Amino acid sequence: MIRLNCKNVDEMVIGKENGLNIAEEFSAYKETIAQIISDLNKRKDKPGQWLQWMNLGYNEETIWYVKEFASQVKGKFENILVLGIGGSALGGIAVTEALLKPYWNLLSKEQRNGMPRIFFLDNIDPDTITGLLSILDLKKTLVNVITKSGSTAETMSQFMIVKDLLEKELGDDYRKNVVATTDKKTGILRQIAEQEGYKTFVVPDDVGGRFSVFSAVGLLPFALVGLDIDDIINGIKDMDLALKNTDINENIAAQNALIHYLMDTKKGKNLSVMMPYSSRLKYVSDWYVQLWAESLGKNKDNNGNDVHIGPTPIKALGATDQHSQIQLYNEGPNDKIINFIRVANFDNNLEIPGIFEYTGIGYLGGKSINQLINAEADSTRVALSDYNRPTITITLDKVDGYNVAQLLYMLEVQTAIAGELYNINTFNQPGVEQAKNYTYALMGRAGYEESAQVLQGKMTAV
Ligand code: PA5
Repeated sequence: MIRLNCKNVDEMVIGKENGLNIAEEFSAYKETIAQIISDLNKRKDKPGQWLQWMNLGYNEETIWYVKEFASQVKGKFENILVLGIGGSALGGIAVTEALLKPYWNLLSKEQRNGMPRIFFLDNIDPDTITGLLSILDLKKTLVNVITKSGSTAETMSQFMIVKDLLEKELGDDYRKNVVATTDKKTGILRQIAEQEGYKTFVVPDDVGGRFSVFSAVGLLPFALVGLDIDDIINGIKDMDLALKNTDINENIAAQNALIHYLMDTKKGKNLSVMMPYSSRLKYVSDWYVQLWAESLGKNKDNNGNDVHIGPTPIKALGATDQHSQIQLYNEGPNDKIINFIRVANFDNNLEIPGIFEYTGIGYLGGKSINQLINAEADSTRVALSDYNRPTITITLDKVDGYNVAQLLYMLEVQTAIAGELYNINTFNQPGVEQAKNYTYALMGRAGYEESAQVLQGKMTAV
């Protein structure tokens, strides 16, 4: 199981002004936390609660269909092209980057054990889209278009471009190269898929985009590139079981949620840095940033009061960002809590040859890069403590499906518990809608004429 060490947020380590009395706080919030955990578990099966993501590890049917489809198309495609944005892309990127061999798309077919390359288009930059489409052989590409709503402008505009090209190259047969992941009944993509006869997978009801990584949204791309789905599912299930424990002393998601909440509300530390010391986990930070920001940044609480709350998530990468952000974290405003992710055992042990005897670098010879990266994590953490800055350390035994799934699921539960502590709706995102509506107005979507007029008045020439 992954482990969480919160010693370095304690006032014994970083002083009373910045630290918490962890034992006292855990005891003060014992009942509240127990209530939140049992309440989430009671509410999770009720429609409209947006808690179905807590059941995804047990969705045998989806798991079976995903594996079955992946085995049917095995060997037929050289590339998987995922079209999606936000919650429909970030989990897929985080997990494939973590679990596939590094530089996967540059490996030969043999080195990939015959499995396809994978590309995610999660933005609408005309140059990168053109660039990618100019190198992909679309005939040998399976396109997985993912959108829960079925009408997201970024995803659907990409799909319109790709479908047009596919059809020009393959004629009616193009349908075999498309698989759509969307709502089971509603949305334009569902209508198109039914008319055109695409293979489809479902984004289940009551699973929001940012909590959808373990639905077909993530599982299908994972299976298509040969990741071990059972390993991932076992990780979620074991973590789910562990996080059903209502005792805060035994529940790492509750501990980290409470620590972040108290650091924000009592100690003014409303920035949450996610800093894995592993390049393979780099995109877990991007996924976390969306999860934390969209879930907890809200202007109203559950009683309708104006609150404008939400800790700001920041992504960082160890050791790289020691040479970029750590100066600020050590000496700048003491307004952050830093989450280190540490890997105990890397897949490879890489020795540094003792080829130079200069005093400044000779000591590195005979050590390993593995020792170096973890020594840097430890020394940065201790240095931050010397500056009275709070840090959390999450340790994974290794970067594999079981541990990465545990990490993501733990962070999801942590977010849900934090939302309850803040007394806000963790699962909506009304703040995203205004700009979306303005985009529809600017692009001439029917029904948005009034917004277009408002915009005319507000926009200044660029
Ligand atoms: O978390 C969310 O709900 C969002 O980030 C969505 O995933 C994102 O806006 C994409 O939406 P859709 O899947 O409907 O295209």
